[in-house]
Amino acid sequence: MEKRELLYEGKAKRLYLTDDANLVISEFKDDLTAFNGEKKSSEAGKGALNNKISTELFKLLEANGIPTHFVKMLDDNHMLHTKVDVILIEVIVRNIATGSLSRNLGIEDGKVLPFTLVEFDYKDDDLGDPKLNDQHCLILELVDHQDELDKLRRMARQVNDILKPYFKEKGLNLVDFKLEFGKDSNGNIILIDEISPDNCRFWDIKSGEKMDKDRFRQGLGGLTVAYEQVLNRILGK
Ligand code: C5P
Repeated sequence: MEKRELLYEGKAKRLYLTDDANLVISEFKDDLTAFNGEKKSSEAGKGALNNKISTELFKLLEANGIPTHFVKMLDDNHMLHTKVDVILIEVIVRNIATGSLSRNLGIEDGKVLPFTLVEFDYKDDDLGDPKLNDQHCLILELVDHQDELDKLRRMARQVNDILKPYFKEKGLNLVDFKLEFGKDSNGNIILIDEISPDNCRFWDIKSGEKMDKDRFRQGLGGLTVAYEQVLNRILGK
């Protein structure tokens, strides 16, 4: 597979075209950003850890019937995946209140939610990723029909139903996470982007220790050590 010209550079990844019009390559960067790009840093090895973690989780989800863009991991920092039209909705799934949910609604940090909450944020950095309801999504034409919004919610809950018990067995609480979706060349909605400690919150069940990007957001240090722990637990090491 030949890596061709740069198609897009995001905060954590670069996207390259390939010699196959249906396939693209993501390069996972070591860059870290938070608070909509206001806080920036870089941690050597972070990109490779996220590539490896995402690879394992996409394989797990595929094996459990979730269609994803994953094709294969090419090397430490590169993943080959399906080219899609990105749906500009960030689907946030929450099992435990923290972060913006606690900040915005005053829900106690760490409170186990009575049911899994699924929210939509507008994937638009200039606007600061505001919250969306279904009517906003339709007015903005982010999807074609209400059915597609229902499908995003259904798929997000299925992902949670697979990942939550999986991580519990590995001693981690899956607190919340962000998913992205796209439409492939046949118009099918598939899971895209990455699933890593950059976009999931993991709390160690025994110690309560944060094992995700909150270590950077909150200046706790030890980010790559925590990400490596997550990968090792996934690999059963
Ligand atoms: O910040 P907030 O509490 O809304 O984040 C909820 C979850 O979504 C967290 O796991 C966070 O890492 C993820 N997220 C993300 N990208 C964003 C916003 C949130 O990965 N732009």
